Amino acid sequence: MENKVAKSGSATLTVGDKSVELPVLKGSVGPDVVDIRKLYGETDVFTFDPGFTSTASCESQITFIDGDQGILLYRGYPIDQLAESCSFLEVAYLLLNGELPTASELTEFEHTITHHTMVHDQFNRFFQGFRRDAPPMAIMVAAVGALSAFYHDSTNIHDEKQREISAHRMIAKMPTIAAQAFKYSVGQPFVYPRNELSYAENFLRMCFSVPAEDYKPHPVAVKAMNHLLILQADHEQNASTSTVRQAGSSEANPFACIAAGIACLWGPLHGGANEAALNMLKEIGTVDKIPAFIEGVKNREQKLMGFGHRVYKSYDPRAKVMQKTAHEVLDAFGMHDDPLMKVAMELERIALEDQYFIDRKLYPNVDFYSGITMNALGFPADMFTVLFAVSRTVGWIAQWNEMISDPSQKISRPRQVYTGAPHRDVAPIEKRG
Ligand code: ACO
Repeated sequence: MENKVAKSGSATLTVGDKSVELPVLKGSVGPDVVDIRKLYGETDVFTFDPGFTSTASCESQITFIDGDQGILLYRGYPIDQLAESCSFLEVAYLLLNGELPTASELTEFEHTITHHTMVHDQFNRFFQGFRRDAPPMAIMVAAVGALSAFYHDSTNIHDEKQREISAHRMIAKMPTIAAQAFKYSVGQPFVYPRNELSYAENFLRMCFSVPAEDYKPHPVAVKAMNHLLILQADHEQNASTSTVRQAGSSEANPFACIAAGIACLWGPLHGGANEAALNMLKEIGTVDKIPAFIEGVKNREQKLMGFGHRVYKSYDPRAKVMQKTAHEVLDAFGMHDDPLMKVAMELERIALEDQYFIDRKLYPNVDFYSGITMNALGFPADMFTVLFAVSRTVGWIAQWNEMISDPSQKISRPRQVYTGAPHRDVAPIEKRG
C-alpha cells in the first residue's frame, strides 16, 4: 500500500510549559486527523481514548463510512449499488484488489476460489472432538485457527504469493467450514462443495442438502444470501477488523489473525447482535408488548438489540437493503404474515418516533433485519454470527493485507493511564494484612 495521506495544516497543543505543533492530515473524504505520533516524545504525555472514539488507528483505502449521512462505500462504490448489481465474488475481488473485475478477471477469480473450497480430508475429523451440541460459532473459532496447522505452507506473511494463497484458501473454505459446523451441530453428515454452483448457492446447498434429498436453493434465497454476504463484507475499523489488524501487527499468521477476528465478532455488541436481535423479537412476541418493552429499554433494563451504532448516527444503509431483502424472502416463502417481521416493523416505527432514540440518534443497524432474513432462510439463531464471519472474512483479509503492506505500520501497542498502587516493597508474610 502506498501512503496517500497528506498534510493540510497544523494544530498546536500546549501541555504545562511545553507546546508542540502537530500536523493535521487530510484523507480523500471524511474528517481531517491530528497526527499525534510525536506527542509523547516532545511533551511526555499520552492521549486517552478508551474505545477509540476519537482515534484513527491506521490509514486505509478500502471502506468509507459517513455516519451522519448514512453512507457506506467499498473502494468508493455505494453499498446499495454493489448489492443490487454484483455477485459476492465480484465484491470480494473489489475489496481485495481495489477495482471491480473485468469479465475475464472475474472468471479467473471464481475459478480460483471455487477450486479451493474443499478442506483437507483430515480436517473433517477435527470436528469429531467437539461435543455433539457444540455451538457452531465455538467450532468456527477453533477450526479457523486450526487451518494454520493444515495449511502451514502459506503462513509466511513476508511472501506476497503465500499471502495471496492463504487469502484465497480462507475465502474459499470459510463457507465449507461454516456449513460443517452447522451440520455437526444438527447431527447430519457433511455435504461437499460443488464447483458448478455460485458461492452463495454452494453455501446454501452445503447447509441444507442431505444425502436422502438434494436441495435446490430458491432464486430469492440465493439473492438474499448474496446480499447478506455483500452487506457484511467489510466495515472499516470495527472491533473485529481492528482485532485482526492488532493480531497481524505482531506478524502472526493470517489464519490465526482471522480466528482472532471471529472471536471478537462473536460478542453480542458486535456480530452476535443479529442473534440477540432475533431472540429479542421472539421474546417480545406480539405487537401489543412493544410499549412495555420500549419503556424497559428507556429504564435501562435492556438494550434494543439491532439498534444504535458507534459510527452511524442516521439509518444504517445496510439496514435499508436488508429490510427490503427480508420482505422479498418472506414474500417468496409465503410468510407475509411473519409475526417477527410485524414486531420488527412496529418496533422500528415506535422507536424512531420516541424522544429517547431521537436524542441519542439510534437507528436500526444491519442486524435488525438480517436475523429475520436468515431465520426465514432456515438458519437457526446460533448460525447467524457464523454467516457474518463467512461474509466478513474477505474484509478482514483485505484489511490485514493492507496493513502488512503499509510502510508506516508498526506493532500495535497502546499505552494506559496507570491508577494502581505506586511502588511498594514486598513485606514478609507474617507482617501482611
Ligand atoms: N438500546 C438502548 N439504548 C442504547 C442502544 C440500544 N441499542 N445503543 C445505545 N444506546 C444508548 C446508550 O445507553 C447511551 O445512552 P446514554 O448517553 O443516556 O448513556 C447512548 O445511547 C450512547 O450509547 P453508547 O453505548 O455510548 O454508544 P456506543 O457507540 O459505545 O455503542 C453499540 C454502540 C455497541 C452498537 C450500541 O449502540 C449497542 O449496544 N447496540 C445494541 C447492540 C447492537 O445492535 N450491536 C450491533 C452493532 S452493528 C454490528 O456490529 C454489525
